[in-house]
Amino acid sequence: MDRQATYKHLVRQAESVFKDEPFFLPAASNLLALLHEGLGNWWTGFYFVKGQELVLGPFQGPVACTRIPFGKGVCGAAWSQQTTIVVPNVHDFPGHIACSPASNSEIVVPFAVNNQLVGVLDMDSTDFNFYGDMDERYLRHLLDLLAKKWAGSIL
Ligand code: SME
Repeated sequence: MDRQATYKHLVRQAESVFKDEPFFLPAASNLLALLHEGLGNWWTGFYFVKGQELVLGPFQGPVACTRIPFGKGVCGAAWSQQTTIVVPNVHDFPGHIACSPASNSEIVVPFAVNNQLVGVLDMDSTDFNFYGDMDERYLRHLLDLLAKKWAGSIL
């Protein structure tokens, strides 16, 4: 399957797992599993805003850093700049936080609810240059679907 077909399939799968699940945590956890397996990521997870830090949420992959300060690393930069950041080679990104030495490229997409950034989705790959514009477009769509499950509590 090419990448677009993979994402079209992922959207259908996400719609299916979201359909009968009103709570955020199970919906988010299953979305991460779909993305992780479907794309073949090394690490796939959420960080959520808590005060002046991002705090680790549900994820798939190796153990990760639990706290990221505002503006730090790729995740903190995506938060402070309120924008998606695609990093073709993490070793060239000043301040990149290497939770795993195996990561070589990364994408971080803001997760917003009612236009308010409440967290970020982070995906890492062992391949260089693994993510691009198509990932951003589909991930934003998937996160918009997931945002409907956010109701002030995770369950
Ligand atoms: N590399 C990220 C930290 C999170 S891990 O990749 C799971 C960053 O620089 O923000």
